Amino acid sequence: DLASAGLEMNAPALDAEVLKHLRSGLTDLQGVPMTLSVTHRWDDIKNFSAHPDDLLIATYPKSGTTWMVEIVDSIRNEGISQEMRSIPSLMRAPFLEMNPPAPFPSGLDILKTMPAPRMVKTHLPFQLVPQSFWDNNCKAIYIARNAKDVLISYYYFHKMNTGMPEPGTWHEFFDNFLSGKVSWGSWFDHVTGWWDAREGLRIHYVFYEDLKQDPVKEIKKVALFLGKTLNKELLDTILEHTSFNKMKDNPMTNFSTVPPFVFKHDISPFMRKGTVGDWKLHLTVAENERFDEEYQRRMAATSLTFRTEL
Ligand code: A3P
Repeated sequence: DLASAGLEMNAPALDAEVLKHLRSGLTDLQGVPMTLSVTHRWDDIKNFSAHPDDLLIATYPKSGTTWMVEIVDSIRNEGISQEMRSIPSLMRAPFLEMNPPAPFPSGLDILKTMPAPRMVKTHLPFQLVPQSFWDNNCKAIYIARNAKDVLISYYYFHKMNTGMPEPGTWHEFFDNFLSGKVSWGSWFDHVTGWWDAREGLRIHYVFYEDLKQDPVKEIKKVALFLGKTLNKELLDTILEHTSFNKMKDNPMTNFSTVPPFVFKHDISPFMRKGTVGDWKLHLTVAENERFDEEYQRRMAATSLTFRTEL
Protein backbone atom coordinates (compact mmCIF):
# COMPACT_ATOMS: atom_id res chain seq x y z
CA ASP A 1 0.00 0.00 0.00
CA LEU A 2 0.97 3.64 -0.19
CA ALA A 3 2.29 3.96 3.34
CA SER A 4 4.57 0.92 3.08
CA ALA A 5 5.74 2.08 -0.36
CA GLY A 6 6.73 5.28 1.42
CA LEU A 7 8.77 3.32 3.92
CA GLU A 8 10.60 1.59 1.11
CA MET A 9 12.04 4.95 0.14
CA ASN A 10 13.97 4.76 3.41
CA ALA A 11 15.64 1.51 2.38
CA PRO A 12 19.28 1.09 3.48
CA ALA A 13 22.29 1.96 1.35
CA LEU A 14 22.54 0.55 -2.15
CA ASP A 15 25.69 -0.99 -3.52
CA ALA A 16 28.19 0.61 -5.89
CA GLU A 17 26.65 -1.06 -8.94
CA VAL A 18 23.28 0.54 -8.25
CA LEU A 19 24.80 3.96 -7.64
CA LYS A 20 26.66 3.67 -10.94
CA HIS A 21 23.35 2.92 -12.63
CA LEU A 22 21.71 5.93 -10.96
CA ARG A 23 24.54 8.23 -12.08
CA SER A 24 24.67 6.80 -15.60
CA GLY A 25 24.73 9.22 -18.49
CA LEU A 26 22.06 10.11 -21.00
CA THR A 27 20.52 7.94 -23.67
CA ASP A 28 18.46 8.99 -26.67
CA LEU A 29 14.70 8.53 -26.37
CA GLN A 30 13.16 9.49 -29.71
CA GLY A 31 15.45 12.49 -29.98
CA VAL A 32 15.15 13.49 -26.31
CA PRO A 33 18.10 12.93 -23.95
CA MET A 34 16.93 10.77 -21.08
CA THR A 35 18.47 8.87 -18.19
CA LEU A 36 18.99 5.19 -18.91
CA SER A 37 16.50 4.11 -16.26
CA VAL A 38 13.64 5.81 -18.14
CA THR A 39 14.68 4.54 -21.59
CA HIS A 40 15.10 1.07 -20.12
CA ARG A 41 11.41 0.82 -19.17
CA TRP A 42 10.05 2.92 -22.01
CA ASP A 43 7.63 0.35 -23.48
CA ASP A 44 5.83 -0.01 -20.14
CA ILE A 45 5.74 3.76 -19.62
CA LYS A 46 4.51 4.48 -23.14
CA ASN A 47 1.75 1.89 -22.77
CA PHE A 48 0.56 3.27 -19.42
CA SER A 49 -3.18 2.92 -19.21
CA ALA A 50 -4.66 6.17 -17.90
CA HIS A 51 -7.99 6.41 -16.12
CA PRO A 52 -10.34 9.27 -17.12
CA ASP A 53 -10.06 10.67 -13.57
CA ASP A 54 -6.25 10.84 -13.67
CA LEU A 55 -4.82 14.33 -13.42
CA LEU A 56 -1.45 14.85 -15.04
CA ILE A 57 0.91 17.37 -13.42
CA ALA A 58 3.53 18.10 -16.02
CA THR A 59 6.61 20.29 -15.95
CA TYR A 60 10.11 20.65 -17.24
CA PRO A 61 12.22 19.68 -14.17
CA LYS A 62 12.60 22.31 -11.42
CA SER A 63 9.61 24.38 -12.47
CA GLY A 64 7.37 23.99 -9.42
CA THR A 65 6.05 20.42 -9.73
CA THR A 66 6.11 19.70 -6.00
CA TRP A 67 4.44 23.02 -5.25
CA MET A 68 1.58 22.31 -7.67
CA VAL A 69 1.15 18.75 -6.37
CA GLU A 70 0.59 20.15 -2.89
CA ILE A 71 -1.84 22.80 -4.13
CA VAL A 72 -3.87 20.26 -6.11
CA ASP A 73 -3.92 17.73 -3.27
CA SER A 74 -5.18 20.43 -0.84
CA ILE A 75 -7.90 21.49 -3.29
CA ARG A 76 -9.04 17.93 -3.98
CA ASN A 77 -9.10 17.06 -0.27
CA GLU A 78 -10.73 20.38 0.63
CA GLY A 79 -8.03 20.87 3.24
CA ILE A 80 -4.94 19.10 4.53
CA SER A 81 -5.88 15.43 4.81
CA GLN A 82 -4.34 12.84 7.11
CA GLU A 83 -2.70 11.24 4.04
CA MET A 84 -1.10 14.54 3.11
CA ARG A 85 0.34 14.75 6.61
CA SER A 86 1.76 11.21 6.57
CA ILE A 87 2.60 10.24 2.98
CA PRO A 88 5.49 11.78 0.99
CA SER A 89 4.63 13.79 -2.10
CA LEU A 90 6.12 11.23 -4.46
CA MET A 91 3.76 8.56 -3.12
CA ARG A 92 0.70 10.78 -3.49
CA ALA A 93 1.63 11.98 -6.97
CA PRO A 94 3.72 9.13 -8.42
CA PHE A 95 6.34 10.10 -10.96
CA LEU A 96 5.22 8.32 -14.14
CA GLU A 97 8.64 7.69 -15.71
CA MET A 98 10.63 7.26 -12.47
CA ASN A 99 12.25 3.85 -12.67
CA PRO A 100 14.94 3.46 -10.02
CA PRO A 101 16.65 0.14 -9.32
CA ALA A 102 15.23 -2.21 -6.66
CA PRO A 103 14.34 -1.92 -3.81
CA PHE A 104 12.82 1.42 -4.79
CA PRO A 105 9.37 1.26 -6.35
CA SER A 106 8.94 2.67 -9.85
CA GLY A 107 6.30 5.27 -10.62
CA LEU A 108 4.34 2.61 -12.49
CA ASP A 109 4.48 0.28 -9.48
CA ILE A 110 3.10 2.93 -7.15
CA LEU A 111 0.40 3.98 -9.62
CA LYS A 112 -0.85 0.40 -9.81
CA THR A 113 -1.66 0.45 -6.09
CA MET A 114 -3.51 3.78 -6.17
CA PRO A 115 -7.24 4.24 -6.27
CA ALA A 116 -8.81 6.90 -8.54
CA PRO A 117 -8.67 9.85 -8.74
CA ARG A 118 -4.90 9.76 -9.15
CA MET A 119 -2.38 12.54 -9.58
CA VAL A 120 0.39 11.61 -11.98
CA LYS A 121 3.61 13.61 -12.07
CA THR A 122 5.64 13.72 -15.28
CA HIS A 123 8.51 15.64 -16.84
CA LEU A 124 7.91 14.16 -20.29
CA PRO A 125 7.81 16.54 -23.23
CA PHE A 126 4.31 16.60 -24.70
CA GLN A 127 5.07 14.32 -27.65
CA LEU A 128 6.25 11.52 -25.34
CA VAL A 129 3.25 11.52 -22.97
CA PRO A 130 1.38 8.19 -23.19
CA GLN A 131 -1.48 8.57 -25.68
CA SER A 132 -3.87 6.98 -23.21
CA PHE A 133 -4.10 10.26 -21.24
CA TRP A 134 -5.52 12.05 -24.28
CA ASP A 135 -7.69 9.14 -25.41
CA ASN A 136 -9.33 9.34 -21.96
CA ASN A 137 -9.67 13.12 -22.13
CA CYS A 138 -7.65 13.49 -18.91
CA LYS A 139 -6.99 16.92 -17.47
CA ALA A 140 -3.39 18.15 -17.21
CA ILE A 141 -1.79 21.06 -15.40
CA TYR A 142 1.47 22.29 -16.90
CA ILE A 143 3.73 24.62 -14.90
CA ALA A 144 6.33 26.62 -16.78
CA ARG A 145 9.14 28.55 -15.12
CA ASN A 146 11.52 31.05 -16.68
CA ALA A 147 14.50 29.42 -18.35
CA LYS A 148 17.27 31.12 -16.40
CA ASP A 149 15.92 30.20 -12.97
CA VAL A 150 15.33 26.66 -14.20
CA LEU A 151 18.95 26.48 -15.37
CA ILE A 152 20.24 27.49 -11.93
CA SER A 153 17.85 25.23 -10.02
CA TYR A 154 18.60 22.30 -12.33
CA TYR A 155 22.34 22.73 -11.88
CA TYR A 156 22.06 22.54 -8.09
CA PHE A 157 19.68 19.62 -8.43
CA HIS A 158 22.19 17.69 -10.55
CA LYS A 159 24.78 18.22 -7.83
CA MET A 160 22.58 16.99 -4.98
CA ASN A 161 20.74 14.14 -6.75
CA THR A 162 22.75 11.01 -7.50
CA GLY A 163 19.85 9.90 -9.71
CA MET A 164 20.88 12.52 -12.27
CA PRO A 165 23.94 12.31 -14.51
CA GLU A 166 27.06 14.17 -13.39
CA PRO A 167 26.50 17.86 -14.27
CA GLY A 168 30.15 18.49 -15.18
CA THR A 169 31.51 21.98 -14.60
CA TRP A 170 29.19 24.97 -14.47
CA HIS A 171 30.35 25.99 -17.96
CA GLU A 172 29.66 22.55 -19.35
CA PHE A 173 26.23 22.46 -17.74
CA PHE A 174 25.42 25.94 -19.02
CA ASP A 175 26.26 24.85 -22.59
CA ASN A 176 24.40 21.57 -22.28
CA PHE A 177 21.29 23.25 -20.94
CA LEU A 178 21.24 25.80 -23.75
CA SER A 179 21.69 23.11 -26.39
CA GLY A 180 19.14 20.77 -24.76
CA LYS A 181 21.68 18.07 -23.89
CA VAL A 182 20.27 17.46 -20.40
CA SER A 183 17.72 14.99 -19.02
CA TRP A 184 14.23 15.51 -20.47
CA GLY A 185 15.81 17.54 -23.25
CA SER A 186 15.51 21.13 -24.26
CA TRP A 187 13.63 23.61 -22.03
CA PHE A 188 12.67 25.51 -25.22
CA ASP A 189 11.10 22.47 -26.87
CA HIS A 190 9.36 21.48 -23.63
CA VAL A 191 7.60 24.74 -22.76
CA THR A 192 6.62 25.48 -26.38
CA GLY A 193 5.55 21.88 -27.05
CA TRP A 194 3.08 21.94 -24.16
CA TRP A 195 1.96 25.47 -25.06
CA ASP A 196 1.12 24.44 -28.62
CA ALA A 197 -0.68 21.31 -27.39
CA ARG A 198 -3.34 23.18 -25.39
CA GLU A 199 -5.87 23.51 -28.18
CA GLY A 200 -8.48 20.78 -28.05
CA LEU A 201 -7.10 19.28 -24.83
CA ARG A 202 -7.90 20.00 -21.20
CA ILE A 203 -4.55 21.55 -20.31
CA HIS A 204 -4.25 24.34 -17.75
CA TYR A 205 -0.98 26.21 -18.33
CA VAL A 206 0.43 27.98 -15.25
CA PHE A 207 3.51 30.13 -14.82
CA TYR A 208 5.67 29.73 -11.70
CA GLU A 209 6.21 33.50 -11.63
CA ASP A 210 2.43 34.19 -11.58
CA LEU A 211 1.93 31.66 -8.81
CA LYS A 212 4.66 33.36 -6.84
CA GLN A 213 3.32 36.87 -7.42
CA ASP A 214 -0.40 36.22 -6.93
CA PRO A 215 -0.97 32.78 -5.38
CA VAL A 216 -4.61 33.59 -4.48
CA LYS A 217 -5.52 34.26 -8.09
CA GLU A 218 -3.61 31.29 -9.47
CA ILE A 219 -4.85 28.81 -6.85
CA LYS A 220 -8.43 29.90 -7.57
CA LYS A 221 -7.83 29.30 -11.29
CA VAL A 222 -6.51 25.82 -10.57
CA ALA A 223 -9.58 25.11 -8.40
CA LEU A 224 -11.88 26.31 -11.18
CA PHE A 225 -10.09 24.04 -13.64
CA LEU A 226 -10.68 21.13 -11.23
CA GLY A 227 -14.35 22.05 -10.84
CA LYS A 228 -14.03 23.19 -7.23
CA THR A 229 -14.73 26.44 -5.44
CA LEU A 230 -12.75 27.59 -2.42
CA ASN A 231 -14.13 29.52 0.52
CA LYS A 232 -11.92 32.04 2.27
CA GLU A 233 -10.99 29.71 5.11
CA LEU A 234 -9.93 26.89 2.77
CA LEU A 235 -7.99 29.29 0.57
CA ASP A 236 -6.10 30.60 3.62
CA THR A 237 -5.33 27.04 4.73
CA ILE A 238 -3.98 26.16 1.29
CA LEU A 239 -1.93 29.35 1.06
CA GLU A 240 -0.26 28.65 4.37
CA HIS A 241 0.30 24.94 3.77
CA THR A 242 1.84 25.51 0.32
CA SER A 243 4.04 28.47 1.20
CA PHE A 244 7.74 27.91 0.51
CA ASN A 245 8.72 28.02 4.19
CA LYS A 246 6.05 25.53 5.25
CA MET A 247 6.93 23.16 2.43
CA LYS A 248 10.64 23.46 3.21
CA ASP A 249 9.99 22.32 6.79
CA ASN A 250 7.46 19.63 5.92
CA PRO A 251 9.07 16.15 5.58
CA MET A 252 6.17 15.09 3.33
CA THR A 253 7.06 17.79 0.78
CA ASN A 254 10.77 18.51 1.22
CA PHE A 255 12.03 15.10 0.01
CA SER A 256 13.91 14.44 3.25
CA THR A 257 12.40 10.92 3.22
CA VAL A 258 14.50 10.05 0.16
CA PRO A 259 17.66 8.26 1.40
CA PRO A 260 20.51 10.72 1.97
CA PHE A 261 22.88 8.95 -0.41
CA VAL A 262 20.38 9.62 -3.23
CA PHE A 263 19.40 13.21 -2.35
CA LYS A 264 22.32 15.04 -0.72
CA HIS A 265 20.50 17.90 0.94
CA ASP A 266 23.75 19.03 2.58
CA ILE A 267 25.11 19.86 -0.89
CA SER A 268 21.89 21.68 -1.86
CA PRO A 269 18.44 21.22 -0.31
CA PHE A 270 15.56 20.17 -2.56
CA MET A 271 13.64 23.22 -1.30
CA ARG A 272 16.50 25.53 -2.16
CA LYS A 273 15.28 29.16 -2.49
CA GLY A 274 11.92 29.24 -4.22
CA THR A 275 12.43 32.72 -5.67
CA VAL A 276 12.13 34.48 -9.01
CA GLY A 277 15.32 35.95 -10.47
CA ASP A 278 17.91 33.87 -8.63
CA TRP A 279 19.75 33.73 -11.97
CA LYS A 280 20.75 37.35 -11.46
CA LEU A 281 22.98 36.20 -8.61
CA HIS A 282 24.60 33.52 -10.77
CA LEU A 283 25.01 34.48 -14.44
CA THR A 284 27.88 36.67 -15.55
CA VAL A 285 27.13 39.50 -17.98
CA ALA A 286 28.70 37.46 -20.80
CA GLU A 287 26.71 34.34 -19.91
CA ASN A 288 23.52 36.35 -19.74
CA GLU A 289 24.16 37.82 -23.18
CA ARG A 290 24.81 34.42 -24.65
CA PHE A 291 21.68 33.10 -23.02
CA ASP A 292 19.58 35.99 -24.36
CA GLU A 293 20.89 35.46 -27.87
CA GLU A 294 19.93 31.80 -27.89
CA TYR A 295 16.65 32.58 -26.15
CA GLN A 296 15.63 35.08 -28.80
CA ARG A 297 16.54 32.66 -31.55
CA ARG A 298 14.60 29.77 -30.03
CA MET A 299 11.54 31.74 -28.87
CA ALA A 300 11.15 33.99 -31.93
CA ALA A 301 8.29 32.03 -33.46
CA THR A 302 6.15 31.32 -30.38
CA SER A 303 3.38 33.36 -28.77
CA LEU A 304 4.56 32.09 -25.38
CA THR A 305 6.13 34.77 -23.19
CA PHE A 306 7.64 34.75 -19.72
CA ARG A 307 7.73 37.53 -17.14
CA THR A 308 11.27 37.57 -15.86
CA GLU A 309 11.21 41.15 -14.64
CA LEU A 310 9.73 40.21 -11.25
P1 A3P B 1 14.80 26.50 -6.47
O1 A3P B 1 15.85 25.45 -6.70
O2 A3P B 1 14.95 27.68 -7.37
O3 A3P B 1 14.65 26.89 -5.04
P2 A3P B 1 10.29 20.89 -8.80
O4 A3P B 1 9.34 20.60 -7.70
O5 A3P B 1 9.65 20.98 -10.15
O6 A3P B 1 11.48 19.99 -8.77
O7 A3P B 1 10.82 22.39 -8.58
C1 A3P B 1 11.66 22.69 -7.51
C2 A3P B 1 11.81 24.18 -7.42
O8 A3P B 1 10.56 24.74 -6.96
C3 A3P B 1 12.86 24.60 -6.41
O9 A3P B 1 13.38 25.85 -6.89
C4 A3P B 1 12.01 24.76 -5.17
O10 A3P B 1 12.60 25.54 -4.15
C5 A3P B 1 10.79 25.44 -5.75
N1 A3P B 1 9.61 25.34 -4.88
C6 A3P B 1 9.10 24.25 -4.29
N2 A3P B 1 8.05 24.56 -3.50
C7 A3P B 1 7.87 25.90 -3.62
C8 A3P B 1 6.93 26.83 -3.05
N3 A3P B 1 5.99 26.44 -2.19
N4 A3P B 1 7.06 28.13 -3.40
C9 A3P B 1 8.02 28.54 -4.26
N5 A3P B 1 8.93 27.71 -4.82
C10 A3P B 1 8.85 26.40 -4.52
